[in-house]
Amino acid sequence: MQQVMNIAELRARLASVRSVAFVPTMGNLHEGHIDLVRQAREHAECVVVSVFVNPLQFGPSEDFDHYPRTLAEDCAKLEGLADFVFAPTVSEMYPLQQTVFIEPPPIANELCGAARAGHFRGMATVVLKLLNIVQPQVALFGKKDYQQLHIIQQMVTQMNLPIRIVGGETVRAADGLALSSRNQYLTVQQRAESVFLQQTLSKARQAILEGERNFALIEEASVDALAQRGWHVEYVSVRGQAALSLPNPNESALVILAAARLGATRLIDNVEVFL
Ligand code: PAJ
Repeated sequence: MQQVMNIAELRARLASVRSVAFVPTMGNLHEGHIDLVRQAREHAECVVVSVFVNPLQFGPSEDFDHYPRTLAEDCAKLEGLADFVFAPTVSEMYPLQQTVFIEPPPIANELCGAARAGHFRGMATVVLKLLNIVQPQVALFGKKDYQQLHIIQQMVTQMNLPIRIVGGETVRAADGLALSSRNQYLTVQQRAESVFLQQTLSKARQAILEGERNFALIEEASVDALAQRGWHVEYVSVRGQAALSLPNPNESALVILAAARLGATRLIDNVEVFL
């Protein structure tokens, strides 16, 4: 496995490669990332992982400065799994002030986008830059970030990028908490409480499977259950998988998405429901 910091060098090394599968990350890798890297191997002869904490997708009061940067450990974890780790500096990715952006679809202003203005615009912009740098045939993203995956799929389709987007299932800790680099911000007590988010979504899913069709009622009950235990809930929302819009009456592939804070730590999760 080779570590490359520079765009020109990465392009030179990939020039003779026939097929590339790409996993973009912000580093501090856990089993959720590693699972995507393992899957990438099934899609191409060469696997590229990027590690880049993208300033463009963090709001002014978010954790850009404190986001865990652990490149040496990340490279050790990728040994034998990836062929190249692309870890550019901020000035390599943004040598000029970035004034050209991807304008994401309107759904980027809902759900996670409602509380994180500009987040998906910054995310989509860096993902497009990374896709242009690596030029993979396949790129893999986790369903853990369901709305992100949806927006990327829309960008790739609507911008005619010749890239197949593959979604990986959410990898969870033994107790059900979705793995996230931000979980390490949790205190021991908060870590014990954190599993309640996934349990709340499972309960909501169960209610739908048992026939409840008043989604607003389910959302309200979920928000109340979390709030009563001290969570600061941003949203719990039942959506159609296809467009992430409010489900129409005959839609059978649904997803329940949630974002909530425990103290200062913001957690997100989702569960798919097939009727
Ligand atoms: P990051 O949070 O590092 O996640 C990188 C990839 O790993 C994303 O596709 C994310 O959905 C996936 N992932 C994270 N936790 C997961 C889990 N528990 N199970 C399965 N997949 C998981 O998402 C980003 O970085 C950035 O926004 C990025 C796309 C790299 C653009 O900067």
